[in-house]
Amino acid sequence: MSLDKNLNKILIIDFGSQFTQLIARRIRELGVFSEIISNKKIENRHINQSIKGIILSGGPLNVYQINRYTFDKKIIENRVPILGICFGHQILSKLSGGKVKQSKHREFGLVDIKKKNNSILTRNFFDKQNKNRVWMSHADQVSKLPKNFKVIASSNNSKFAIIENKKKNFYGVQFHPEVTHTENGKKLIKNFVFLICKIKKNWSPKDQKIKLIKEVQKIAGTNKVICALSGGVDSSVVAQLLNKAIGKKLFCVFVNTGLLRKNEEIQVVKTFKKKLKINLMYVNAEKEFLRKLHNVSDPEKKRKIIGNLFIKIFERYAKKIKNVKFLAQGTLYPDLIESKSVTGSQTSKIKSHHNVGGLPKKMKLKLIEPLKFLFKDEVRKLGLELNLSKEIISRHPFPGPGLAIRMPGIITKEKIKILKEADNYFIQALKDHNLYDKIWQAYAALLPVKTVGVMGDNRTYEYLCLLRAITSEDGMTADFFDFKKTFIQNISNKIVNSIRGINRVVYDVTSKPPSTIELE
Ligand code: XMP
Repeated sequence: MSLDKNLNKILIIDFGSQFTQLIARRIRELGVFSEIISNKKIENRHINQSIKGIILSGGPLNVYQINRYTFDKKIIENRVPILGICFGHQILSKLSGGKVKQSKHREFGLVDIKKKNNSILTRNFFDKQNKNRVWMSHADQVSKLPKNFKVIASSNNSKFAIIENKKKNFYGVQFHPEVTHTENGKKLIKNFVFLICKIKKNWSPKDQKIKLIKEVQKIAGTNKVICALSGGVDSSVVAQLLNKAIGKKLFCVFVNTGLLRKNEEIQVVKTFKKKLKINLMYVNAEKEFLRKLHNVSDPEKKRKIIGNLFIKIFERYAKKIKNVKFLAQGTLYPDLIESKSVTGSQTSKIKSHHNVGGLPKKMKLKLIEPLKFLFKDEVRKLGLELNLSKEIISRHPFPGPGLAIRMPGIITKEKIKILKEADNYFIQALKDHNLYDKIWQAYAALLPVKTVGVMGDNRTYEYLCLLRAITSEDGMTADFFDFKKTFIQNISNKIVNSIRGINRVVYDVTSKPPSTIELE
């Protein structure tokens, strides 16, 4: 159980829908705190005063196969307003005395619904013709309306597309208001949150900052805290938050693996040590990493070597700071959601991820994870509230193993140097053309093949540079970014003309899946 007891909230009970996180985000976008908990974990005794409304999510199960899902049915007896979405609508109907069965006509995709009655839930939701286009994804439907419920809207195939029991404050929608395809879906959620649950706004970056600083101060007391800083968004926000909360009791360790982007170590030291005055220990471990990676070309071996060495070095330096009690980590909310496996990523099973968040458990330090209730976009906003620069906050993700996994084959000093240059030209060109913020992640890679070229009157035989730029929501799936021909032509020219060692550039046009974002 990871419910925050102190903050008023809308509780989302997750039955395994792929959209559950979206529901939470929509509510938080309205400035209201929301939490997700798995249907398997929530019990009636957890429902306390801080829960001002409950949303039952969709899910892949069938209501009539009663043994296949668990749900403490007493939860609906608490006089707390409830909104059921899709499967949640079916459960709410069933538990209230209605019936659910398999639909004759399944509805997937956009469907028109028509208003039948007024409801506070649908204020400003329908168009002038009393219609709306909503996004459905269901094979079952409510077939008998529960007692004391009223139909608010119907589609051709779902008579009970929106229903309500006003006295009890129960509402059910067969469609998904949380997905952007549902027109005015946000308005429906807003009506539930503010008009029905009557909860007040309590979730702005400023609120979060004040709350988190107080919390960190309370947990850490007068003890020392260490934090591994990578310069990425999450660890930067954690470091700055702790800096504001406990100042000189925070000790950050920044390990230069030699596999960072061009001048990254200089920028990190400049920003965090010089500008933000954070206690920063800079460790130059370039040689150690290169030595361990000598002649290693297997991607998994590279990842393991880098992950293990990182931990070893971190521990070595952490020991120099005496009497440390806590380790601060940038764990985010999606990592924490208990039912994540239903909706979650396969990525970590495909590659052994290394990041500074996964630091050693055997150090026996207690954890401080101040971002554990936040989504990535909320972390970015919090970072701005903490006066971190837009440049740090909007940086593209960068993997823990760094350039090592953007260089298939063996790693050499020469290759790293070439790759740093190519990547730098590419990223700078994106910034110069206002493309950087439109792209989720972009990088250059160096492929372990040499090809023949001609420059001037001379034959060249040099490496192949691959450029990758993708758009994505969360890194789980991705599409390649569609550059204009002139942009890609110019950057190719720039790289080939400026960098000795590269004589050919290719652009990766695969999506994820079937490819992954990184090469290894
Ligand atoms: P893939 O290549 O799995 O990448 O499609 C998805 C996202 O994860 C990043 N990535 C990592 N991040 N440690 C990290 O912190 C890692 O070991 C790691 N491997 C991949 C990748 O850059 C992309 O954003």
